[in-house]
Amino acid sequence: MTRAVQTGRVTLVGAGPGDAGLLTLRGLRALEAADVIVADRLGARGVLDGLAADGVQLRAEVVDVGKRPGHHAVPQDGINALLVHLAREGKHVVRLKGGDPYVFGRGGEELAFCREEGVEVEVVAGITSAISVPAIAGIPLTHRGLATAFTVVTGHDQIEALGGGRDHTVVLLMGVGTLAHSAMILAHGARGAECPVAVIEDGFGARQRVTVGTLDTIAHQAAERGIRSPAVVVVGDVVRVSPYCPAELAVDALEVSEELSARLAAQHSGTAGADVAARAASTADSRQELPPSRPGSVPKGQLVPHRAPRSGTD
Ligand SMILES: C[S@@+](CC[C@H](N)C(=O)[O-])C[C@H]1O[C@@H](n2cnc3c(N)ncnc32)[C@H](O)[C@@H]1O
Repeated sequence: MTRAVQTGRVTLVGAGPGDAGLLTLRGLRALEAADVIVADRLGARGVLDGLAADGVQLRAEVVDVGKRPGHHAVPQDGINALLVHLAREGKHVVRLKGGDPYVFGRGGEELAFCREEGVEVEVVAGITSAISVPAIAGIPLTHRGLATAFTVVTGHDQIEALGGGRDHTVVLLMGVGTLAHSAMILAHGARGAECPVAVIEDGFGARQRVTVGTLDTIAHQAAERGIRSPAVVVVGDVVRVSPYCPAELAVDALEVSEELSARLAAQHSGTAGADVAARAASTADSRQELPPSRPGSVPKGQLVPHRAPRSGTD
């Protein structure tokens, strides 16, 4: 089945979400050593441009296999064949893929194909958009007191069977076209129609924009604002700590965690005493005193400042 080992090799590198600062050091080393870089459009192109802007000169030829204006993306079979062909020419080929190669990136298929063809192949993990893009909107996927689990799915997956409530964060990739349907399905489950939702478009890119609503409102907001791909959709109570969250949905991240700690401490000590209860009550009260919604935005590619102004959109 497998053929003789070739002299060339393939390295699948996760480029991260599009900002050269989020490429791993191991990924950079692979790019520097490459003869050819076979690059996707989303994520990968931004990283190559960012490196060039930072004065990093790569000697490799770049082959663009992603969709770009006037050109269709190269089909997966064609990419697989190209990787093997270039490696058989004795080249060190870097396959640069957006985010992480193994998160809805078909990295497993490319790896298997190269191995099947007897081509040496390794994988360098990347920072997935599923985590890094929500982070830029100030949204942690888990947060003490708000969410203990997260699931990453695509808008094309069957989400009817997805269990959990608002404390189980759902991250939708490739979810813009199916947003209305996904929101309706999730609203019918334990999360309910009032469950907060954030859509972060073009994270780290020129069009970066955050929209926050609920499962009930988000489809309408998306239509009104002309929300476009690429975007990451986050569903769950963690959205409430985002500085983009409107005041009526927002909670203070620190207070939520402290409240949980107080509750757990009371459970452990077995003395759910009056002072602990009073502390929890005062924390709950203080949530009502959050600052009113004000417009705010985050410069492209920067993390949100601590306690930045709150707004439903940017
Ligand atoms: C085919 S999936 C690839 C995911 C990638 N392997 C990863 O780990 O991030 C493409 C989807 O990732 C999301 N995505 C990737 N980069 C993004 C970015 N910079 N901003 C927003 N969404 C992004 C979008 O949901 C897009 O439709």
